[in-house]
Parts: sequence; C-alpha cells; structure tokens
Amino acid sequence: MASTIFESESGTLRSRRSNARPRRKFATGSRLREATRSFAPAYRWLCSHPIVRNRIAPWLDGVPIHDFSPTGRGLGPEDGLKRLEREGRIEGATVLIMGVGRGPEVGSYWLDRGASHVVGVDLFAYPNDWSVLRTEAAVRGTNADFALTDGSRLAVRDASVDLVFSQSVLEHVLDLDSFLAESARVLGENGRFYAYFGPLWRSYGGPHVGALAYDHLLVGDDAYLEAARQVGGGWEHWLEEGLFNRLRFDDYIDKLSQHFEIERLGVVASTAGQEYRARDPHTWGRLKRDNDERDLLTNLVSVIAKPRATR
Ligand SMILES: C[S@@+](CC[C@H](N)C(=O)[O-])C[C@H]1O[C@@H](n2cnc3c(N)ncnc32)[C@H](O)[C@@H]1O
Repeated sequence: MASTIFESESGTLRSRRSNARPRRKFATGSRLREATRSFAPAYRWLCSHPIVRNRIAPWLDGVPIHDFSPTGRGLGPEDGLKRLEREGRIEGATVLIMGVGRGPEVGSYWLDRGASHVVGVDLFAYPNDWSVLRTEAAVRGTNADFALTDGSRLAVRDASVDLVFSQSVLEHVLDLDSFLAESARVLGENGRFYAYFGPLWRSYGGPHVGALAYDHLLVGDDAYLEAARQVGGGWEHWLEEGLFNRLRFDDYIDKLSQHFEIERLGVVASTAGQEYRARDPHTWGRLKRDNDERDLLTNLVSVIAKPRATR
C-alpha cells in the first residue's frame, strides 16, 4: 500500500501503520443493555431466515438479502463494522470515508478500531471539526486528513485504499454511478466497500422529515418544501439544494452490482411505514398506485461489497 493516497501534491497524506495500538475499552452499560445487545444477532438471524422474512416482508421476495431487520434492531452501522473487524479488515487499514460531514463516526468507528490512516472527504468543508479530529487522531497514532471533494471525482490513486465507507450518504449522491465507480477504483484488490444508508426517498419520512410521513409522495414539491420549512430541523436546506437522488431500492442494487460483488446485503424495514399502511389503507392505496411496496417500506440499507475482479 502506498504511503500517500492522494494523487495531487496538495494532499500529502502519510500512512503510518501501528500494530501496537491501545484499544479503547467500551463502557459496559447496564446488564440489561448487554443482554439485549447479545440477543440482537440471534434476532437478526431469525428475521433474516427466508421463511420468516417472506412472512414479515413479502415485498422483498426475490431479493438476495443476507440480513433483515423489521425494526432496525440487530442491524445498525456497528454490525457491519463488527463483521469487518472480525475479518481483520480494519486494524492498520487505510480508510476513505465518503461524505464524512463533521465526522461523528471517525473516533468510535475507526480510531477505536485501530485504522492507521483515515481520510474523510465531503462536498462541504467543516474545518473546525476536521481540525479537532486531526488532532485527536494524531494523539492516538492515526494519520487523518480531510478534503473538500466530490466523491464522484476523487483525486486519489488507484488501489490505494483498504476500505471505502459511507454512512447516511448514498441517498444524497446525485451522480451515484461515478461515486461507486470511484469507490471501486481506489480500492485495492482485497479492499471492501461498506455503506449504510437511508431512509430511502420513497419510504416513510424519506426526505428525512419523519413528521411528514409520506407527504412527499402525495403533494407537490413546493407544498412539501413549505411543510418541511414549518417542521424545521435543517433538512429543508437539503431539499432546496436538491441533495436527494430519489433512487429506488432496485436502482441502488443495480448500480452497486455494476461495480461491486455484493457480499452482504442488509435491509431494515420501516416500522412507521407498516403502521401507516395498517392505519390508513385508503391513502396507502393511493401511494401504491405510483410506488412499489418495496420502496415504500424499505427504510435503511447496509451493503458490504468487493470490487469486481474485471476492473
Ligand atoms: C447526512 S450527511 C452524513 C454525514 C456523516 N457521514 C454522518 O454520518 O453524520 C451526508 C453527507 O454526504 C455528503 N455528500 C453528499 N454527496 C456527496 C458527494 N458526492 N461527495 C462527497 N460527499 C457527499 C454531504 O455533503 C453530507 O455531509
């Protein structure tokens, strides 16, 4: 692995590998919380069994899903990280975080797990947050850097990264084909792509405004934006700037499959959506005229994938 991943001079990132990194001890929490946590994989396994899943979520019939959760329980971003950690893919790795934002995941996901080199890119710059993270990483022996960059056009060397990660990003990426192509390009042969994303546009609260349920599919864009402004919370700016790609579940799978072999596909169903369907069958009928239940009821998606060998 090259010690510098950026092609340009401006990004002189040095990769330092340290095998003797002290690992953070997680606070254990209450016994109940621990017991619940240890039950989560069994819950996920049970719900993911095709017979059980087809009963709970027939709208996903035919989709090659490995992990399914009707509620989100047992299938959060941490679950994919644990898998990658078990496979020895994080300690000492060079990790590219696409759409890092303010970087809430940098410490607990990557520094705690001993990544040696963390690079975060985003369409927007957060210099203060990034500076704090850089210092925190340096104290812990990890090289970290951040750049204002569109993930669809990376100035990063081919095959220079071990892991490409994104959390809550894919549903915002407008040119997802290029974003995925770039992710595959920069990954080494044994590299992995891990994305945890959603809510998907057509699901309950798809534009990230839960209070407005499925209104974005029922009223025009202008009326919806006005309602989102009334609710507040910041997502109205994302709507104003058009930063939702509005793709369907099957579009994501098709696009991902063009660039990657999917190793692990996880789906979290929308509990609120299922409650809405039971509560208001009339409106549900309207929604179903233009939308597939697969899109209306799929909330979050988790994908671990490897680049296609034919690159
Ligand atoms: C909802 S935020 C998530 C931020 C962070 N990952 C987190 O979990 O808090 C989505 C981020 O993706 C970024 N983003 C969207 N499209 C992008 C692109 N094409 N390239 C890089 N970043 C992008 C946005 O600017 C935003 O910071």
